[in-house]
Amino acid sequence: MAEKLALDGGTRTVPEGMVQTWPPHDQRDRDAINKVFDSNVFHGNSAPHALEMQEKWAEYCGCKYALVTNSGTSALHMAVAAAGVLPGDEVITSAFSFWASAAAILHHCAIPVFADIDPVYYTIDPAKIEAKITPRTTAIMPVHIHGMPAELGPILEIAEKHNLKVIGDACQAHGATYDGKRVGNIEFTTGFSTNRSKLLSSGEGGIFATNDEGAHAYGLRMREFGEVVPPAGETREYNAFGLGWNYRPHEFVNAFMLAQFGRFEENRNKRIELANFMTEGLAQIPGLGAPATPPWGQPVYFSYVVEFRPEEVGLDCTPLEMKTACVKALAAEGIGMGQWQTRSIPHQDVFLQKQGFGRGVPWSLNPDEAYDYANEEYPLTDAFIAAHCYLAAVHPPNDIDLMEKYIAGLTKVIDNIDRVMELGAQ
Ligand SMILES: Cc1ncc(COP(=O)(O)O)c(C=O)c1O
Repeated sequence: MAEKLALDGGTRTVPEGMVQTWPPHDQRDRDAINKVFDSNVFHGNSAPHALEMQEKWAEYCGCKYALVTNSGTSALHMAVAAAGVLPGDEVITSAFSFWASAAAILHHCAIPVFADIDPVYYTIDPAKIEAKITPRTTAIMPVHIHGMPAELGPILEIAEKHNLKVIGDACQAHGATYDGKRVGNIEFTTGFSTNRSKLLSSGEGGIFATNDEGAHAYGLRMREFGEVVPPAGETREYNAFGLGWNYRPHEFVNAFMLAQFGRFEENRNKRIELANFMTEGLAQIPGLGAPATPPWGQPVYFSYVVEFRPEEVGLDCTPLEMKTACVKALAAEGIGMGQWQTRSIPHQDVFLQKQGFGRGVPWSLNPDEAYDYANEEYPLTDAFIAAHCYLAAVHPPNDIDLMEKYIAGLTKVIDNIDRVMELGAQ
């Protein structure tokens, strides 16, 4: 007989207090931050923690240059601008992402054009890109969403054929690889986020990466008011080359990031181990699907996503209905599952109503183009969002013991699926 659901008064599978939060931190992080107070250097492009972090990150990715920034969005904006994208240009990106990917394009007064995803690997489908290219297209921005490396090979080929730059949104994919190379060392420019939840966390922050000397120089100026700001102690010209922002991070953030970087590889590997354990376990549970491993690279599972497949357990309902009922039952078991994104990016109001800078900018820069985002061109993104949600806390310091509980709880819910659906409807 199936074990009694927690929703029905049974014992919850995951005991209270067992799930630990990200990022794990300890005395090493506190000591690193205290060292900033001792140094009396709190910011600046030549601040010691900034320089050390940049060197370490470039070395880790295998690329020539890295620049720490105050967010992933600023790193991505720098990646867009340093790739030579200009106002009114079109940049093709994935319909499935966090909207900051598209916002980084808008921040440069360029126009996001969206392509649907591959249904298995949930990243931009290279086969859908060429149809979106116009004479105004200057770049493609694949997003390595949920830590899944996008299929970069064909994307780079398309870019070369049409003379476009490839800008990587690796905000969720630190240490993911394509064809043995790490993201950040493949695209022309790349943006990483280091906000609280990310694989390399510093609370808030980001990193811009490139192999191109000119893009690096552009990024440096753009990060600091559009000026060439010399190292501390040297004379500053106070002459802006053009528009720049203040995208510098604080040294507290750099020090935290650096301390976290000391355990980055270990944490990344543990995430992959936990994800692989879950994937093996889910293969034994009908009605649920695990993320697929692409032939081209190593995902890093920023989010571990689970698919709901009602037909496998004899349910005559939509994946969304099954998911909604299961999430409720799993919450009672102490298993957190969450919905990440509720619609494709082009179907958010900012695009449907073209609310950018006001007065229709940037779309009005190309008055002859309709830029109709309210179309039906993203069915696979919609279907993916409806059928999936993420399983919380598949990361260290949690370990296999929690994953075993997750498998037990998911099995219990599927064993009781008819009752789960009944309770879900109440
Ligand atoms: C795919 C993606 N791109 C961009 C960003 C923006 O990063 P940040 O929040 O650090 O600005 C995020 C952040 O969650 C993201 O997930």
